Parts: sequence; C-alpha cells; structure tokens
Amino acid sequence: MTHRRSTILAATFTAAVALAGWATSSRAADSNGNDQAAEGGKLYAKHCAKCHGAGGEGTKKAPAVVGKAALPLDAPATAKVRKSQFHTAQDVAEFVATKMPANKPGSLTVDEYYQILAFDLKANGVDVSAKKIDPKSAAEIKLH
Ligand code: HEC
Repeated sequence: MTHRRSTILAATFTAAVALAGWATSSRAADSNGNDQAAEGGKLYAKHCAKCHGAGGEGTKKAPAVVGKAALPLDAPATAKVRKSQFHTAQDVAEFVATKMPANKPGSLTVDEYYQILAFDLKANGVDVSAKKIDPKSAAEIKLH
C-alpha cells in the first residue's frame, strides 16, 4: 500500500510541476516589453494603422506616432482632442486608453493598450526589454 501511495503522490507531483511550468510559460509571454511589442504590433496594425499609417508615420487623418517629431510634449497645434502633455510614456498611455482609437475610444483591454504602447515605444527607439510595460514602469519612461 505504501508503495502504491507514493507512486500516486509522485504522479500528482509531476502533474503539479507540469501545470506550474505551463502557468509560468504563459505568463512569460508578456514578461517584458519586447514580448508585449510583438503582440502590440499586430494590434496596432488592426486598430491604429488606418489613421496613423502602417509604420506610424501619420496620415492626413492623424499625427505620427513613430519618428523624431512623434509624441511631442505639447499637443500639436491642430489637436482637437489632446489637452494633456506627454512627459512620460504613462501620459501617452492615459491619453490613448481613453481617447483612442478615435472612432472607438476605450474599446481595447488595458493589456492590449500596454502592448500597443510597448510596440510604439520600441518603434521610437526606447529599450523596452528590461521590464513589462505597465502603469508603473511606463511612468518611469521619460519622453520629455
Ligand atoms: C479613426 C482614426 C484613428 C484611429 C483608428 C486611431 N487614432 Fe490616434 N489619433 C487620431 C487623431 C485624429 C488624433 C489627433 C487627436 C487630436 O486632435 O488631439 C490622434 C492622436 C493620437 C495620439 C496623440 C498624438 C499627438 O502627437 O498628439 C496618439 C499617441 C494616438 N492617437 C495613438 C493611437 C493608437 C495607439 C491607436 C490604436 C489603438 C489610435 N491612435 C487609433 C485618429 C485615430
């Protein structure tokens, strides 16, 4: 009986480890900004590119979100929606999560907005590899 019980215990333990391993690897999918950016690129293409351009270069409809002049401290002179300044990446996140996509504000999940933010920061040359981009780490990324 003792032997049989330890076999069952061992099997349970193996299953638990396998489950824990699975949980860790699924979390690891978003363990830093590079992982988020991979997803964010797809989301950007789907929800943002039609107005901001395939590479974020801007169109007649909307300002650039990638490039030297993108994400300026003050709203562009033509801005109708943006009133806030972009000091940090978190300032951008707050604007985007409440006002974008312009035709459907607030329609993405918080995780999706941060994945897009990671993508956009990376496209602008910000190193996002160290941490997951969330409200706390985004507030530490100074843009201006
Ligand atoms: C239907 C068109 C449209 C879509 C789709 C759209 N935007 Fe915008 N976006 C705009 C317009 C127009 C502005 C300028 C707002 C203003 O007048 O202040 C803007 C402004 C912005 C700004 C601020 C730029 C600046 O310099 O002030 C950011 C950042 C931004 N959008 C990100 C996004 C993201 C990320 C998505 C996708 C989730 C998205 N937008 C989807 C039209 C769009």
